[in-house]
Amino acid sequence: MPKQKILIIGSGGREHAIGWKIKQSPRCGELYFAPGNAGTSSIGINVDFKAVDIKGLIDFVKKEHIDVTLAIPDDPLALGIVDEFKKENLRIFGPTKNAAQLEWSKAFSKNFMRKHGLPTAKFDVCHDYKRAESYVKNHSFPIVIKVSGLALGKGVFICGNYTEAEKTLNNILNNKSFGEAGNEVVIEEFLTGPEISTHVFTDGKTYSIFPPSQDHKRIGENDEGPNTGGMGTVAPLPIVSDELMKEIEGTIIASTLSKMNEDGNTFSGVLYPGLMLTPNGPKILEYNARFGDPETQTYMRLLDTDLLDIIDACIDGTLDKIKINWKKLSACTIVLASGGYPESYEKGKIISGIENASGDKDIVIFHAGTKYDENRNLITNGGRVLGVSATGNTLKEALAGAYEAVKKISFEKMYYRRDIGKKVL
Ligand SMILES: Nc1ncnc2c1ncn2[C@@H]1O[C@H](COP(=O)(O)OP(=O)(O)O)[C@@H](O)[C@H]1O
Ligand SMILES: [Mg+2]
Repeated sequence: MPKQKILIIGSGGREHAIGWKIKQSPRCGELYFAPGNAGTSSIGINVDFKAVDIKGLIDFVKKEHIDVTLAIPDDPLALGIVDEFKKENLRIFGPTKNAAQLEWSKAFSKNFMRKHGLPTAKFDVCHDYKRAESYVKNHSFPIVIKVSGLALGKGVFICGNYTEAEKTLNNILNNKSFGEAGNEVVIEEFLTGPEISTHVFTDGKTYSIFPPSQDHKRIGENDEGPNTGGMGTVAPLPIVSDELMKEIEGTIIASTLSKMNEDGNTFSGVLYPGLMLTPNGPKILEYNARFGDPETQTYMRLLDTDLLDIIDACIDGTLDKIKINWKKLSACTIVLASGGYPESYEKGKIISGIENASGDKDIVIFHAGTKYDENRNLITNGGRVLGVSATGNTLKEALAGAYEAVKKISFEKMYYRRDIGKKVL
């Protein structure tokens, strides 16, 4: 079997988890990460390119004769990395710039949902402050204001009253506090209900849906405090029945993909709609045009099919030829963060206990913000540092295993949520 040279773009826990899974493929040859982290350097070769350095990456791929590139983070996708690779006849996994618009323009995605009758919160898109202000005046509170462009998860504001809404609109539209990403805002109805993450692999023609998962976005227990990149995930979800998943598949997943196709923006790669299970049925909060982080760390523990086969099928349009299987297990990931995250935090803290914690076969530790210092000490290098993942026959078992492993790891000011999975148990 010919081995493939693979490049994974990105540096988070998600990219480590994807690399960990791809490495298990008998067809996986040399594995590169750009730029990667300490964890990825133990399973592959880190190359020092920024994820958005499209030109540098193309030159590298040509020079090293990389067979397949996986474009994982949102920003290179928004910059059109897939289109640029395709122009050069290079094989790449991910959506084109137009298809990824589902994520990088919330204005686009909301208008798309409205046009095709997809279930989502009522909304308006405004670039004009006066119009935005008058929309807010005529609607009830709380009201949700979202920066349209990519905002590192910091561009959504739930405003409890008019004063807050006015201040938020003024900051985004007049003071340009989000730069161009805030040239437009989406103002929408406040929804309630449990939030879930759905993911689907697609080659643009067929698709294969993942089990449902749940992230924990807020820094504090009981979902208090500011939003983060995600503090922990569980899958599958005891609160989502097969019947509900079927409904979501029909009304949300299949229709989104077929309507994107109809509109000439065929989506290929991974699509990740974030949903809210409202009293009036599941509604789309947003689309992401890529794998979630830390959902992926949990998903890779459950995926039973060769990931490289899936990636190749998505690129080649042959996804109908393979069956994707998921282990009949539960899995979870607990994120270990630097104290102070998502606000300011220190880096460079020595991490200890990883080897001890990963002794059990059900435990895998994925690196995010880590690096080696000049003395080969493993140190912290970001807000989210590690993701401790575990599998089990039940979610309860997986969580117990993961928290047991977490106890063995330490670094100064390490912080994690102790209530991951609690809501769905
Ligand atoms: N219409 C809404 N009603 C209530 N909460 C919302 C609504 N839209 C978003 N949220 C909350 O804000 C979070 C971030 O919103 P989202 O649209 O996913 O933006 P992003 O992930 O790009 O920051 C969601 O995970 C959800 O908790
Ligand atoms: Mg989101």
